[in-house]
Amino acid sequence: MRSVAPARTSSSTTSAARAGSTPLCALHEDGTCRSCPHMSTPLPVQLARKQARIVALLADGANPVPAAVWERPAASAPKRFRNKAKMVVSGTAAKPLLGILGPGGHGVDLRTCPLHVPEIEAALPVLARTVTALGLTPYDVSARRGELKHLLVTASPDGDLMVRFVLRSRRHVDDLRAALPGLRRALPTLAVLSANIQPVHQAIIEGPEEIVLTDDDRLLMRLHLPAWGVAEEDAAGAGPTELPLYLPTRSFFQTNTGIAQALYATARRWADDALTVPAAAPTAPRQVWDLFCGVGGFALALAGPDRRVLGVEVSAAAIDGARAAARLMKLPDDRVRFEAGDASVLDPGAGAVPDLLVVNPPRRGIGAELAERIEAAGVERVLYSSCNPTSLAKDLARMPSLRPRRARLFDMFPHTDHAEVLVDLRRGR
Ligand SMILES: C[S@@+](CC[C@H](N)C(=O)[O-])C[C@H]1O[C@@H](n2cnc3c(N)ncnc32)[C@H](O)[C@@H]1O
Repeated sequence: MRSVAPARTSSSTTSAARAGSTPLCALHEDGTCRSCPHMSTPLPVQLARKQARIVALLADGANPVPAAVWERPAASAPKRFRNKAKMVVSGTAAKPLLGILGPGGHGVDLRTCPLHVPEIEAALPVLARTVTALGLTPYDVSARRGELKHLLVTASPDGDLMVRFVLRSRRHVDDLRAALPGLRRALPTLAVLSANIQPVHQAIIEGPEEIVLTDDDRLLMRLHLPAWGVAEEDAAGAGPTELPLYLPTRSFFQTNTGIAQALYATARRWADDALTVPAAAPTAPRQVWDLFCGVGGFALALAGPDRRVLGVEVSAAAIDGARAAARLMKLPDDRVRFEAGDASVLDPGAGAVPDLLVVNPPRRGIGAELAERIEAAGVERVLYSSCNPTSLAKDLARMPSLRPRRARLFDMFPHTDHAEVLVDLRRGR
């Protein structure tokens, strides 16, 4: 979540000014926004420090990740990597501010944030003008008045846009519907427009009701992975394979498209030896489970001949998107199956034990009960993708028979302390 500094820094003392270089972000340099605490440090230095911190943290656990098993980290672009903007709307309908609420609840406009991909930066002024034209009064948190709470904008790798107006009530939904033709003229790549209704006075970004105003209700995110069997680093000219994912309105998607591609590609490369059926000694198809699968990124990256993949995810909308992507990829139902449900109650030991288990839980981790069932089930290989190394270390300690053999840091959130880590676990000493 973004934050702002309590006081402004004099521009004469900023690191970029001292170094005589052009700052990456004027909003950071002048103290307007402190969401990216490490922005003044060159990205390679940031990444080396992040790697050292995460390696030390995970080497220290009860089921340690040895320092020697870490691959080179996957580095992000320094800017223009965020595929989504979550903008709090404040100010007035005539002069809306799109960004965050600063100390004291005053609005800070971040529409020039350089982390957003260019399509988002170009869309935000158009959306601000729409707010004014429709007279959408920004929600005032202290007065509990107003209609427009957030603007949520996602851009696909092809530049298509999903725009969601988070409103307190349905009062302006018809106005928004009437504005659609004009919005399409101003934003020709607008694919999905919706109103999300969030009536409660709580710090939650979106509500359960989504009114989709376009024919399309999901955004096609066409990712590109290196061709099968090619390491991401060696991918240049190797002919990428497409990974088309459908993102419905209220579903999770990895924030940094380039790093998401590296993450799925690494999982596929690491999984290959567990999943390849030798031609000389054919066996039953390999079984893969992808738990907390979201819109199916890992499951669909790992789908292939001689494999049966099952993805489980609590969001029914995300599962619909994953099923649609499987159809788009022409993957038959008997090869890839997605089910909506609670992954944390599953027991991989209850039937045929999967050859490979992928888990990519929310920040809290997979938790004691699922970890203990995986430990007891006898699963030979697990790929654990985590956005929280602290909960990862706890979960690893609960699965002492699964030893970390490979690990990699993915810089999903540059300029911050957040880290995405993938660990390859194998049963045995
Ligand atoms: C970090 S996201 C990972 C999504 C996906 N693997 C990807 O690569 O985009 C975690 C996902 O877990 C889902 N989730 C949270 N609790 C869950 C549960 N108890 N059972 C199944 N899915 C859950 C969330 O809806 C979210 O899609």
